[in-house]
Amino acid sequence: MQQVQPREWHKFGFGGPPEPWEHGAQRDLDRLATSYYLDILQSCQAIRGRPRPATDSHRVEELYTTATRHKHEIDYTLRHPATPAERARVEDWLRSLMRIGLLMRELMDGPSTIGPTPEPMPAAWRAARWRSADTLGGVPRLPTLADVNAARTRLRGISLHTPLERSPELAQEVGAADVRLKREELQPTGAFKTRGAHNKVAVIAESHPEAALVTASSGNHGIAVAAAAARHDMRLTVLVGRSVSQAKLERLRAYETGRCTVELTGNDTDDAEAEARRRDDAGHAIYVPPYNDADVIAGQATVGVEILEDWPDADVIVVPVGGGGLIAGIGLWAKAINPGLRLIGVQPSASPPMYAHFETGSTEPMPIGPTMADGVAGNIERTSITWKLCRQLVDEMVLVEEDEIANGMRWALSVPHILLEPSAVLGIAALLAGRIGSVDDARMAVVTTGRNVPADTLASILPA
Ligand SMILES: Cc1ncc(COP(=O)(O)O)c(C=O)c1O
Repeated sequence: MQQVQPREWHKFGFGGPPEPWEHGAQRDLDRLATSYYLDILQSCQAIRGRPRPATDSHRVEELYTTATRHKHEIDYTLRHPATPAERARVEDWLRSLMRIGLLMRELMDGPSTIGPTPEPMPAAWRAARWRSADTLGGVPRLPTLADVNAARTRLRGISLHTPLERSPELAQEVGAADVRLKREELQPTGAFKTRGAHNKVAVIAESHPEAALVTASSGNHGIAVAAAAARHDMRLTVLVGRSVSQAKLERLRAYETGRCTVELTGNDTDDAEAEARRRDDAGHAIYVPPYNDADVIAGQATVGVEILEDWPDADVIVVPVGGGGLIAGIGLWAKAINPGLRLIGVQPSASPPMYAHFETGSTEPMPIGPTMADGVAGNIERTSITWKLCRQLVDEMVLVEEDEIANGMRWALSVPHILLEPSAVLGIAALLAGRIGSVDDARMAVVTTGRNVPADTLASILPA
């Protein structure tokens, strides 16, 4: 651990770097921006390490986010020959970076220890312009069975072949012939998301090992991408909306290193996703989307591969649905192997965009209510390929209420003794609540998707 030394900011020559454009300039500005940014980051890490009033913590996060954005903007602008207007903007951003540094200093009341320091941007990072090549006119291509096979090979030794565990109690409860739980919460990082994230990051690493990555998720996908990026030693920015809970933010921050930074942007996940796409379009970094991507879906499809390998007689699969990447992947494989298989998706009634699409055909954003099942909550991108894939592959969408989700969690804890997060329990909840019809004699695989449940959510469902 290092000591933060107070910086003499005035030494940087502000008000304004001394005629930088005449003194060959771009490099000087770059160095100045990096130096301010590193100082801000160090101050920020030092402040985070200590107990502070909530208002201060909030302020620190905001300042840090703005500083990171300025740094990106400066990096990007300096990569091109700058026009006078762009120069003026860079100088403004530099001034703002310096002001943020001073404010950070005010918030810090003395030296303290700091965490990892980000590596300076390598020259190649500044020179390159990356973007997802995997789109046709901005729309991702559709996944194929060959993609799923390639994903299986890439995931060997990385994701677990999870157990498909018999649940005689659930079968008896609902009157099905056989019910088995596909235990995806046992994956490393605590959710199936590790499959799609690792597959996508591995595909990028094969063609652009030097690329920077960006993703948008405060939950299971963000954590899975952070683990995948670390495995390939790739740079990553995880974008998170400001409405994220403190608990989730802290959990994500645990993955921060010199190569992985968490950045607050916009209000919610929808804003964070839009910003990630913008950075991909601008060539700043390659976006690793949570569901709207052929390689992500192909990775999630390996859940379906394992179910049918282990249990060729399964004739119903029940899957929680958020953006629809998991169910689309499972459907892609399962319907190719057994076209008669019945695929059922479950959403919370507070956040039902895919259910509504099945009812009305609409892909319009809709109001999202509060739900415990935060992993699947939110709207689906208008251009997502999962709308079409789900319409082709999914037989039925059903909804569950909040008390039914809580009931599903309690059942999982008290009968098979499994800790599941609310989003992961949607299939069990739908079965217990009788939301799925015609289950007599069915051989049902129910995918339990994750175990990342905050302590307060868990406490709220347990009897007092
Ligand atoms: C625990 C859990 N289950 C299910 C899902 C739904 O996956 P998808 O968005 O691919 O539909 C998610 C999504 O993040 C999740 O975190």
